[in-house]
Amino acid sequence: MSRLLDVRNLSINHGKVEAVRNLDLHLDEGQIVSLIGPNGAGKTTLMAALIGLLPSTGEVSYAGQPLQAHHGVAQRIDKGMALVPESRELFGLMSVEDNLRLGAFSRHRQGHRDHQQTLDEVFALFPRMRERREQAACTLSGGERQMLAIGRALMAKPRLLMLDEPSLGLAPRVIGEIFDIFKTLRERGVSILLVEQNARAALKISDYGYVLEVGDIVLHGDATDLAQNPRVVESYLGRKSSSTATEAARATG
Ligand SMILES: Nc1ncnc2c1ncn2[C@@H]1O[C@H](COP(=O)(O)OP(=O)(O)O)[C@@H](O)[C@H]1O
Ligand SMILES: [Mg+2]
Repeated sequence: MSRLLDVRNLSINHGKVEAVRNLDLHLDEGQIVSLIGPNGAGKTTLMAALIGLLPSTGEVSYAGQPLQAHHGVAQRIDKGMALVPESRELFGLMSVEDNLRLGAFSRHRQGHRDHQQTLDEVFALFPRMRERREQAACTLSGGERQMLAIGRALMAKPRLLMLDEPSLGLAPRVIGEIFDIFKTLRERGVSILLVEQNARAALKISDYGYVLEVGDIVLHGDATDLAQNPRVVESYLGRKSSSTATEAARATG
């Protein structure tokens, strides 16, 4: 399997705050790799740097080529990277279908004219988006909004899909539905970097995992080994995760 993402010695600052320190992380083509860790660990900061929204020091190689500071967000998207941010950033007053079409903008600019076919593929993955294609995005439920945000990212036909806490605020049933889609995407050759506080759900579908705490990778390994690691069980799969489940149960789907 070839290496798709190779991050070495990456450090990222917010002004004087060092949010990520000397981080090493890699992801092979066709893998789901999860990055778990508590609030404030630096997960969102890492995603922002990888997509080109924040400057960093260190080396990032993507698809065998070094990514440079001058490679901005648009260029990274053109190279096949995509980010579904925690905020989902939908256009609330626009229809579901128009939100999806916007996701194909960068491919269209590159000269591709296959967005209708991609739209059909996204509708096949998320039949509920097809049913609601004319509805304004702001009228969707939490789970449907997340599906739309993922669908919009898929319209760019990414090779590496990065997701920042896609399960946040969603009911367990909806989380299951969305995580099943990630497995389907992996079968289709999309590689996934999954940032999650829901360690149980993330490790279950992942090939490999990293634990980030206050800017440092403190553990990493095959997802099945990590899920049995006493430290992971204690901090992320024990009582804390049942409180997460309770929160999720209270949330709307
Ligand atoms: N825009 C910002 N300015 C200053 N500090 C920030 C900013 N964004 C995040 N931080 C700090 O960086 C650290 C990592 O935050 P973040 O990447 O959001 O963590 P996570 O996504 O793991 O919860 C935290 O200490 C946070 O307070
Ligand atoms: Mg975050």
